[in-house]
Amino acid sequence: MNELKPGRGTARNRGDLRLAVFASGGGSNLQALIDATKSGVIKGRVGAVISNNSGAYALARAANENIPAFHISGKTHPEPENFIGTTLDVLETNGINLIVLAGYMKLLPPEVIRRYRYRIINIHPALLPKYGGKGMFGLIVHKAVLDAGEKISGATVHMVDETYDHGVILIQRTVPVLPGDSPETLAARVLEVEHRILPQAAGMFLC
Ligand code: GRF
Repeated sequence: MNELKPGRGTARNRGDLRLAVFASGGGSNLQALIDATKSGVIKGRVGAVISNNSGAYALARAANENIPAFHISGKTHPEPENFIGTTLDVLETNGINLIVLAGYMKLLPPEVIRRYRYRIINIHPALLPKYGGKGMFGLIVHKAVLDAGEKISGATVHMVDETYDHGVILIQRTVPVLPGDSPETLAARVLEVEHRILPQAAGMFLC
């Protein structure tokens, strides 16, 4: 496990939410969650950031906020039992009680889903159940929406289970598809909505 920041030991202020955010990319949704813990929309704090991508700017965002950040991937942990064990250790050590997948490009191991069942949420940049499932991520989603001639799109926060983009939907919000939209312009409009509904959904959880 490549711990990029000293862990903070077990959770202080018991009763507050302690989030672990899993991210593979730029981490703008992570930043929205961090900001929401500061504004009080989320009653708690981000206790750990985990990425499978050592170059993810999400890890830099965590470091900027003194949040324990961990690079855990198939490269750092080629043996599945080590990957699972290390992930669970990080979650336990940091007193995590809510997992948020925010642009995390891997499927969580079933052992982690079982241990945190009903305490894992994901943000998806489309109106599930359409345009979801394995392989549907990033600009691929928005291209599919445009190719289908949809007039509306949007974002979804849902509970995570063992199937990609499949769990109970918690919040959805729509955006218009505008004439001349490219996957990039639609993605940017949807991302603005993501930054609002993901913190709202996390804020619905109490310890
Ligand atoms: C978001 O569009 C999210 O819907 C998708 O991955 C992207 C993550 O963006 N799952 P960021 O890393 O939070 O900026």
